[in-house]
Amino acid sequence: MTGVFITFEGIEGAGKSTQIQNAYEILSVKNPDNVILTREPGGTEAGEAIRNIMLYATRHKIDGITELFLLFAGRCQHIRDVIRPALSADKIVLCDRFTDATFAYQGGGRGVDIRLISQLQDMVQGELRPDLTFLLDTPVEVGLERIKGRKEPDRFEAETVKFFKRVRNAYLDLAGRFPERVRVINAAQGIEEVKGEIHAVLLSRGLC
Ligand code: TMP
Repeated sequence: MTGVFITFEGIEGAGKSTQIQNAYEILSVKNPDNVILTREPGGTEAGEAIRNIMLYATRHKIDGITELFLLFAGRCQHIRDVIRPALSADKIVLCDRFTDATFAYQGGGRGVDIRLISQLQDMVQGELRPDLTFLLDTPVEVGLERIKGRKEPDRFEAETVKFFKRVRNAYLDLAGRFPERVRVINAAQGIEEVKGEIHAVLLSRGLC
């Protein structure tokens, strides 16, 4: 595969959606047909249905392991239908969250065994890993303040500060383990500063 696989990660309120859109616009200047924007959970019809369960099935409690299998089921279809074909066609794939989120939310947040997540990662992805990951890092209190009152909270947004602290720590731990791949961006800064830092990294990789 010859394309470039870039993921965006971070806790709620880190500004991920705004920044991935900015990156999409920056990268599209050269060749708009060469960049695709997708997300997880989601990205395919099955993936979006799974997203709906993940975020809004609140009548009965969903176990962390169940979440894990739902996520990897959606990821399997997403890789097969969207990510691999795009990378094979030499495109840049921008993905709003990927498996780092599973390590952070299900591993860190829910306490699911990391070894199980790693096994599923190998099974579903084979060798596929992002080439570059932007971790938009912000203190939990700052992120949660930003999303307060935006809309009715989903299953994750309704979680506790403690939960998000575990998620953030798990993300930072991943950044420490994979420093070449994961670029930590201080997302407590203003939107323009964050955009500028991301732009600089993309420039340094010769992508724009
Ligand atoms: P989003 O609001 O950034 O689109 O993400 C939806 C939620 O899904 C977010 O709260 C985190 C959660 N999630 C996981 O728990 N594990 C995962 O692997 C992914 C991709 C998302």
